[in-house]
Amino acid sequence: MKRIYMDHSATTPVDTLVVDAMLPYFSEMFGNSSSLHSFGMEAAEALSTARKQVADAIGALPEEIIFTSGGTESDNLAIRGVITHNSGKKHVITSVIEHPAVLNTCAFLESLGHEVTYVPVDAEGLIVLSLLERSIRENTVLISVMHANNEVGTIQPIKEIAQIAKKHNIYFHTDAVQSVGKIPVNVDDLGIDMLSLSSHKIHGPKGVGVLYVRKGTIIEPIVFGGNHEKGMRSGTENIPGIVGLGKAMVLAQQRLDTDSKYMQQMRDGIISKIFCSVADVRLNGHPTQRLPNNVNLSFKYVEGESMLMLLDMKGIAVSTGSACSSKSLKASHVLSSLNIEDDYIHGSLRISLGRENTIEDEDYLVESLKETVFRLRMMSPLSSQ
Ligand SMILES: Cc1ncc(COP(=O)(O)O)c(C=O)c1O
Repeated sequence: MKRIYMDHSATTPVDTLVVDAMLPYFSEMFGNSSSLHSFGMEAAEALSTARKQVADAIGALPEEIIFTSGGTESDNLAIRGVITHNSGKKHVITSVIEHPAVLNTCAFLESLGHEVTYVPVDAEGLIVLSLLERSIRENTVLISVMHANNEVGTIQPIKEIAQIAKKHNIYFHTDAVQSVGKIPVNVDDLGIDMLSLSSHKIHGPKGVGVLYVRKGTIIEPIVFGGNHEKGMRSGTENIPGIVGLGKAMVLAQQRLDTDSKYMQQMRDGIISKIFCSVADVRLNGHPTQRLPNNVNLSFKYVEGESMLMLLDMKGIAVSTGSACSSKSLKASHVLSSLNIEDDYIHGSLRISLGRENTIEDEDYLVESLKETVFRLRMMSPLSSQ
């Protein structure tokens, strides 16, 4: 059976050029970058090349790049790093639709006695800027708002948020795990102090990421040991992974225009074909300020998980915005924050495209989805179909 992967917001296949770049660092060039002999020097050189590749891709300086184990650790390091550097009870502002890597870090801070404000979003997933600015307090030390949402793909007005933070002398962190490689990300243009990114979302290997920290931004480490990464993240560096991330960043940068135009066309094609042929469907997230590869649809009278399973049987991998618990279907915190009507919220499906998807994949998805919704509605007592 044909297998089509359309769940690129979850993870991406590693590019063969990335695999080729990594392979020697598992075998003949296996050194520890802290060692003083030639094996170590080879590894140190690879580390410094990758650092420059990542820095160049986001308009940063190599010394502003800290390699981590991924987006989750980068988010933790940014948020906990700022809080631990500042003594006393502190206040952080974030949004209600952040990834759990941010939300659960903030919940942990609250358990330690710090304060967190979760700013709401509008029906299209955009943060309400006036509410964000109004929530600033005397002891606010950090604003952390994601660049683009992983479920509905809404792109936040990051530049404006960074300006608000700057005006009030507050650090600004953004989780750019979903935006890097899909839309332009330049830390100076956007005015960002800290930025998280993750390799496995951009056709790089899993288990490696970056926290960009602007020069002059002072944070404390959260992992202690042999003072790797200038003491900001101890632990022998994952050289093959870091080399892979460096290569993936170079490719993402080179292909950004072509890939995002290609995916955006496919995204818009899927949306318009589904809207033309299926009734009672809605698009979740912002209609235009959205990631080029994100389609998030809700269908009335059907459950997301049933759609996902039937599509999987047809060889198509997508994801849903609700999780089935024993008795009830619980909608995701993101969809719940968008005030989606009850009739629709459980029938949501996220289709996240990648550069290897083809026009044939698009047609197959549209036909399969139409068939799946029709079949499920036939079984639904609520649908008049
Ligand atoms: C927006 C966002 N932040 C953080 C993460 C976590 O990244 P990682 O899987 O590299 O820990 C993800 C992964 O899904 C994400 O989508």
